[in-house]
Amino acid sequence: MAGADPQALKDTILAAIDAADNPDALETVRIESLGKKGELTMAMKSLGQLDGDARRDMGQALNAVKDAVTQALDARRSALAMAELNRRLASETVDVSLTPRPETAGVIHPLSRTLEDILAIFAEMGFVVAEGPDIESDYYNFTALNMPEDHPARQEHDTFYMTPDADGQRKVLRTHTSPVQIRTMENMQPPIRIIAPGRTYRSDHDATHSPMFHQCEGLVIGDGITMAHLKGCLIEFCRAFFNVDDLPVRFRPSYFPFTEPSAEVDIGCSRDGGGLTIGAGADWLEILGCGMVNPRVLEYCNIDPNEHQGFAFGMGLERLAMLKYGIPDLRPFYDSDLRWMRHYGFMPFDAPSVHLGLS
Ligand code: DAH
Repeated sequence: MAGADPQALKDTILAAIDAADNPDALETVRIESLGKKGELTMAMKSLGQLDGDARRDMGQALNAVKDAVTQALDARRSALAMAELNRRLASETVDVSLTPRPETAGVIHPLSRTLEDILAIFAEMGFVVAEGPDIESDYYNFTALNMPEDHPARQEHDTFYMTPDADGQRKVLRTHTSPVQIRTMENMQPPIRIIAPGRTYRSDHDATHSPMFHQCEGLVIGDGITMAHLKGCLIEFCRAFFNVDDLPVRFRPSYFPFTEPSAEVDIGCSRDGGGLTIGAGADWLEILGCGMVNPRVLEYCNIDPNEHQGFAFGMGLERLAMLKYGIPDLRPFYDSDLRWMRHYGFMPFDAPSVHLGLS
């Protein structure tokens, strides 16, 4: 090694440093040149074999090579670190010009939401959902509900009649969800606790009436069911639905052919200051009809009124939706206007639950 050629040594090492394209390769070059047994280290160790001027000249030359190699190593290390950083920055960039991830576009219609609210409350009370057909027989829609053919209450229903079938029977578009009561009692033994939502139809069209609308019916049949159960159940419902714990609820005597006695339920409200506030106040709002199931209706369904009694109730979903969610006009409910839907609609993942409060 005494005859080392500093220039050749330097060229070889600097070329190796240049060629190292990652930190590990660079470290190998460092160890092979400046390490304990590195080429340069060995050359310096062998200086002792030279004498006098030759030793001094070679010593200076090798020191210069060492400085150059050290500098080149540092420079290459920084360059590699910078390249690595740039590579990572490039791979982790966020393209701010991309369109945002699409938000869920659909919303829940206020009527669906209202129904979900109602079902959440009655489900908690142990009711199950029952359904019936929109096209109903005269018998289920009227007769079995204690409205025989000549009953004056039939006139109030503005019924849509279908064309008569072969045997002269005219089916109707059901004018209320009450026929589901009859179908349920025909098919189920007491105890019965059902809630029956669905579409209903009457030939009526103005700012507060639509020829197609929605109702929700309730029916409870059991032993020893009294008006007290009806009141407790519906007061609880009203307070949960409007999420007002001390909501005043009033039962006003009324008439329905299928219940006896019958009542209409009003809730307290205030119209102070122009707006409508649900809760204690000077005014009342009618929100549903109810009563003890008429014994004649039970008889139509072969249920012995001396053994079983019950109560029923019916409510209009549009009216409840308008009151609860402050929707002033009925007509846009069926217009499929996206602007209206986005304003009054509900987020799909925001499902109602009684314990979270239903407002
Ligand atoms: N069917 C009635 C209507 O359409 C509402 C109703 C009132 C239903 C009293 C009932 C009830 O079950 O008991 O106006």
